[in-house]
Amino acid sequence: MVLVAPSLLAADFKCLQQQIELVENAGADWLHFDIMDGHFVPNLSFGPETVRQMRPISQMFFDVHLMVQNPLKFIPMFADCGADMLTVHIEACQNVSEVLEEIRRHHLKVGLSLKPQTPAERITPYLNQIDNILVMTVEPGFGGQKFMENQLDKIKTLAQMIAGRSVFLEVDGGINPQTAKLCVGNGANVLVAGNAVFKAANPAQIIKQLQHTGEK
Ligand code: DX5
Ligand code: ZN
Repeated sequence: MVLVAPSLLAADFKCLQQQIELVENAGADWLHFDIMDGHFVPNLSFGPETVRQMRPISQMFFDVHLMVQNPLKFIPMFADCGADMLTVHIEACQNVSEVLEEIRRHHLKVGLSLKPQTPAERITPYLNQIDNILVMTVEPGFGGQKFMENQLDKIKTLAQMIAGRSVFLEVDGGINPQTAKLCVGNGANVLVAGNAVFKAANPAQIIKQLQHTGEK
C-alpha cells in the first residue's frame, strides 16, 4: 500500500477542522502542509500558527513542505508547532547539509525536495541524511496544476538511487488516480493530493483508491 498525504492547500479554509477530520476518518496517512513565502514561489499560503492550531485536533503525521527561501531560519518555529517532518527545497538552501542537520537536531524527520528542472543527481550527496525525497510534479506555488509526465524518469532514477535505504519517495502536484499509477509504477510510495481529494464528491473513496494504486 502507498501512503496518501492530502494537501490542506485545497481544503475549504472556512472549516479546516472539519476538513482535517474528514480525511483523517477516511484513513489518510499523512497531512501535507504547503508553506509558501512569496519569494521561493510566487504565492503565499499559511505559516506555523496554522500548523500549531491543527496539531491538537489530529493524530496524523504532519508532513510540512517548506517552499521558502533560506529555510534554515524557519526550522525552530516549525519544530515548535508540532510538525513531524520538514521537507525543504534543495534549490532554496545555501548550505544543504547544514539545513538537514538542523532539522535532525530538532528531532524531526528530514525531507529534501526537487523542483521539476532540478536533476535527480543533486540528491546524491545527501542520501544518507534524509528520510524523504519529494519530487515536484508541477512547478511549486499553486494547487490544481497539470501533472508533468516528464518527471517520471526522475522518479525512476531516484527510486534506484534510494536502493535499500529507508527513504520515502513522495510525489506532489497534479496527482489523481491516473497519474498516481504512473508515479507508483516508477517507484513513488507517498502521494500528495490536493484537489483530487478535497474537491472530490467522495474524498474517502479517492483516498482508498490512491492507497491501493498499483495493486491488482
Ligand atoms: C504545489 C503544492 C502542492 C499542491 C498539490 O506547490 O506543493 O502540494 O497543493 O495540489 P494538487 O494535488 O491540487 O495539484
Ligand atoms: Zn506540497
